[in-house]
Amino acid sequence: MSTLTPEALGALLQGLGTDPIPTRACPIPAYSADPSTSTATLTNGDLTIPVPRLRHKGKKSPADQCADFAANFPPGHPLFQIPNAAGIHLPIFFTSNSLHRLILPFVFQRQRSYGHDLQAGLHDPSAGRSGRKRVIVEFSSPNIAKEFHAGHLRSTIIGAFISNLHEKMGWDVIKLNYLGDWGKQLGLLAVGWQRFGSEEELARQPLTHLLDVYAQINAQFKPEQDESKKARDEGRDTSEIESRGIFAERNAYFRRMEDGDPEALALWWRFRDISIERYTSTYTRLNIAFDEYSGESQVKSSTVDEVERDLKDKGVYEEHNGSWVIDFKKHNAKPLHIAVVRGRTGSTTYLLRDVAAVLEREKKYGFDKMIYVLIGRPDLAARLQHVSFGKVIGMSSRLGNVKLLGDIIDQTGAAMHEVMRRNAAKYAQVQDPESVSDIVGISAVMVQDMSGKRVNNYPVDIAHMTSFEGNTGTYLQYCHARLNSTLRKAGLAQEDIAKYIQDHPTTLDNGTEKRHCVDLLRLMSQYPDVTATALRNLEPSTILTYLFRLAHQFSSSYDVVQVIGTNEGRYIMLGRAALYEGARQVLENGMKLLGITPVER
Ligand code: ARG
Repeated sequence: MSTLTPEALGALLQGLGTDPIPTRACPIPAYSADPSTSTATLTNGDLTIPVPRLRHKGKKSPADQCADFAANFPPGHPLFQIPNAAGIHLPIFFTSNSLHRLILPFVFQRQRSYGHDLQAGLHDPSAGRSGRKRVIVEFSSPNIAKEFHAGHLRSTIIGAFISNLHEKMGWDVIKLNYLGDWGKQLGLLAVGWQRFGSEEELARQPLTHLLDVYAQINAQFKPEQDESKKARDEGRDTSEIESRGIFAERNAYFRRMEDGDPEALALWWRFRDISIERYTSTYTRLNIAFDEYSGESQVKSSTVDEVERDLKDKGVYEEHNGSWVIDFKKHNAKPLHIAVVRGRTGSTTYLLRDVAAVLEREKKYGFDKMIYVLIGRPDLAARLQHVSFGKVIGMSSRLGNVKLLGDIIDQTGAAMHEVMRRNAAKYAQVQDPESVSDIVGISAVMVQDMSGKRVNNYPVDIAHMTSFEGNTGTYLQYCHARLNSTLRKAGLAQEDIAKYIQDHPTTLDNGTEKRHCVDLLRLMSQYPDVTATALRNLEPSTILTYLFRLAHQFSSSYDVVQVIGTNEGRYIMLGRAALYEGARQVLENGMKLLGITPVER
């Protein structure tokens, strides 16, 4: 029988290459480390081994095997208590005496990279770029002169998380924003600009002004559109209607753009540049920096030709009433029907440009994987992954008039500021309430968005979002600030603690407080496992649920296990401070992974 080493027992132990505790053989066969073995509640153990997964040969049932392993477990193991079998599961509990000697130095050595540096398998030297795999994450992708709606917000929040996660786990990440920056509606915007545009307003509030111009021209255009739609519905020819009025102006302008007319393009470039400039500063408030603002306009016609040539060569491209289509039903792609790839008037479609964009990204970046964070489109191939999500309910009705990303964060920041003002004494202590409320407001929106599984819909709920109680971003921030102030109030610096831990790895409470300390440590040890799980399921809620468990454990420990005011002497005080500083570090790491800036006070 081979041995189960601590290294094989989960992500924490994977990292403990220099285990200070001698490893004794356990009578359990080795199997490759599976991070899913850590538990969802501490009462079920720190790790659990589903015995059938060991595929242990023999005549006995898994439950009997499990009972055998438990019965033969060596007594007095420094790291593991003697387990009790629970059916086919063998729950493993760490011994409380050795845990802090392992976890705390481990966390302090790694600090910001704790929980983020264990994806050794990724470093494949054949992958080039110093062995790192490359992923493109496309997200947010707003449309110029159009509203930034709830779908964009979710894409932004979830996409930023997925990018951070891959970055921290050792991937080379390209963050891409694929703007809606081409098409007839941009011709319409230019026509609107000629009628309603104001340089002054554009300088003052560029995005809002463009939105406004577009809304005005759209209102004028509406009757013509209705007329054309009616004709189409009645089976009449629409070309006469579309050859006059705003229709004609719009189409002519867009034609000039497509033909590369420098003057038409110059105005469009200005709108695009100005928009990107604004987007960039708003994304900065959310800790997001895109590597590239690409967009529909950037797809080259030569690549489009390449896609169409390919489609023809493969025999899947057919002409159908003047347009070019793929009939997916004929090619065993069941849920899909007929897709128009090139329109009747010879114009490229969104789909065609979208596929061409993939080829261009492949040429430019040579990615190993590409993730789209958007409401699903199952029409692209194997290396591409679409990460979908549910709806946000009642955003504009509950947040007021929000049309831009900046409006959304302004509104939640203001709501947060309001909540902070209610406690005048605490409010007076906050140095820069404007920026604190901005950051906390942002975390409130983000946490609300990331609390459930991505596919779930959720309603905007400002009262809940800004509450210091319950599983909110505000509560996380509150816990972080509180942990932070513990060290400050005790007059300790982070370096003191780190040094202390190196020199005195063994001092931790022994009294009634011990259980609290140990449970906090046990939770801290699970973090690497949690990040590994998130990398598989791309669910921000995996991280968030864990952070709430950690925060709740901290809150309940904090009342009992005090740092300041303990009369148990300096060593105990430092030991506790180290514990909290370690917990704070884990909280910081998780919050940053989600894209949240932890506040100091
Ligand atoms: N601009 C699009 C929208 O606002 C999202 C872009 C999605 N990305 C893509 N490659 N199709 O709906």
